[in-house]
Amino acid sequence: APVVERAPFLPTGEATLRPSFVRDEDERPKVAHDRFSDEVPVISLHGIDDARRTEIRDRVAAACEGWGIFQVVDHGVDAALIAEMARLSRDFFALPAEDKLRYDMSGGKKGGFIVSSHLQGETVQDWREIVTYFSYPVKARDYGRWPDKPAGWRAVVEQYSERLMALSCKLLGVLSEAMGLETEALSKACVDMDQKVVVNFYPKCPQPDLTLGLKRHTDPGTITLLLQDLVGGLQATRDGGNTWITVQPIAGAFVVNLGDHGHYLSNGRFKNADHQAVVNGESSRLSIATFQNPAPDAKVWPLAVREGEDTILEEPITFTEMYRRKMARDLELAKRKKQAKAD
Ligand code: SIN
Ligand code: FE2
Repeated sequence: APVVERAPFLPTGEATLRPSFVRDEDERPKVAHDRFSDEVPVISLHGIDDARRTEIRDRVAAACEGWGIFQVVDHGVDAALIAEMARLSRDFFALPAEDKLRYDMSGGKKGGFIVSSHLQGETVQDWREIVTYFSYPVKARDYGRWPDKPAGWRAVVEQYSERLMALSCKLLGVLSEAMGLETEALSKACVDMDQKVVVNFYPKCPQPDLTLGLKRHTDPGTITLLLQDLVGGLQATRDGGNTWITVQPIAGAFVVNLGDHGHYLSNGRFKNADHQAVVNGESSRLSIATFQNPAPDAKVWPLAVREGEDTILEEPITFTEMYRRKMARDLELAKRKKQAKAD
């Protein structure tokens, strides 16, 4: 793929958007970042281990059949830890350029800071900066690539990762049951779960109607736990992808997205959340996405196949192969679109 020249930081001081950020008309935001909808189910996890388990299971099943996305509250992750994680994340992006560039990932390094687009080789850029930590399996941690400025952040990320891994395992148990499987089924299918934390910073944007913070996509993994501030900008679709809504931000809640892996395991009964992030002209926005993925060579194959149903995959493939095919499909679509525009 051709190497796209990228500025190390977003050009936030300019009055008009550079052409490299301008999206085709059909990709531009259709709904304002702050026109909130409360349609995405909000599920309290209080009583998940006993009194409310079947109720929670049924609500999760309904949310995944309808949206592939729901929010969880009363999830047991300490509010002070969440606040500290968000505060330190914000402080990182406010650091001087040279501090951020010490963790520059643009040379292909795993983990650190970058002005990021959704897809490698894509020509239109997303209006976001990110920091990413590879956190599980523990042996994959390269602490040299984990920013520790502002001081103490590394330890907070470590704790945050651990708590979110525990919450994810709990959610996978309920999701397994929601698919009609034994509690451990999804965890087993992931073999040794990977976790990656991506901190997204979306600066104020001069022309937010022309661009996106993060292009429309589905997450590749099993589930994603997203923490967002109260600015708003996460959007999801319903009605087969035709109607966009902006997810109502809830302080301290996690948005749970079902990814492609989860979708395949359910044999398509559970949707992989179709989503994007929009930006705005009034304030910057922070979100922290924790991706829970199966091990790279874990076998992807539908577990919850109902009587008389065909499987939505033709053969078992590894998660790496599943991801490769997804990227190839995305690139092919982008190429075709570019070609159609040129003709
Ligand atoms: C994501 O899809 O990973 C992030 C979306 C958001 O920032 O709301
Ligand atoms: Fe996503």
